[in-house]
Amino acid sequence: MKILVVGGAGTIGRRLVPELRSRGHEVIVAGRTSGEVRVDLAEPETITAMYREVGAMDAVVSIAAHGALDEFATLTSAELHENLRAKFYGQAELVLQGQHHAADGASFTLTSGVFADQAWPHVTGGGVISGALHSFVLSAAIELPRGMRVNAVSPTLIGDSVDEFSGHFPGMRPVPMDEVVRHYLNCVESDITGTVVRAYA
Ligand SMILES: NC(=O)c1ccc[n+]([C@@H]2O[C@H](COP(=O)([O-])OP(=O)(O)OC[C@H]3O[C@@H](n4cnc5c(N)ncnc54)[C@H](OP(=O)(O)O)[C@@H]3O)[C@@H](O)[C@H]2O)c1
Repeated sequence: MKILVVGGAGTIGRRLVPELRSRGHEVIVAGRTSGEVRVDLAEPETITAMYREVGAMDAVVSIAAHGALDEFATLTSAELHENLRAKFYGQAELVLQGQHHAADGASFTLTSGVFADQAWPHVTGGGVISGALHSFVLSAAIELPRGMRVNAVSPTLIGDSVDEFSGHFPGMRPVPMDEVVRHYLNCVESDITGTVVRAYA
């Protein structure tokens, strides 16, 4: 398969991309400054340009753009909106625009996160982003044309990121990266659609 991985140079991507290549797939990595193709999920016109550049794909995997931490007492709707730009609207754009560019039967695999299902301080925006992505996947799955599929992987804190994030989420039990990578592979290679794959430890 020809697979576009947005954010493929990041923590998850560094494990997922070699795995996809070892299984015989052709992988193109996209990012704002990394990979072979430039895209910024916060800027929809760069998504248009990326799809024009790469041509028809059999699979698009998105593992890019985090929700920002926030402070509920002072949070504004403008900040919430800004927080949704890359990770929610950008991933939605990948599907909305991608349905017109991808090959018949192509799959989209998006990334959400545990805060859709688990309250935690300072992640109101992160929770809203992931909850919205889960709802988006359900609707998109029944409306996508030409046999296309869409799923989301929703990880909790991943083992490889404990050093980076555990200060923000003390006591959160991490999920092993191998398990998370297996979920992405299954979304790409199986025929599931409309599924939110919860990778919670
Ligand atoms: N790691 C975890 O523990 C964990 C847990 C739950 C959910 N997640 C979610 O999984 C996804 C990937 O996480 P990660 O830890 O692998 O992230 P990461 O290490 O920060 O890597 C993110 C990758 O995405 C690219 N990127 C960032 N912002 C982008 C944007 N606006 N447009 C296009 N590319 C962008 C970055 O490259 P450039 O800088 O070149 O753009 C980088 O290659 C994120 O949505 C994250 O919230 C991660």
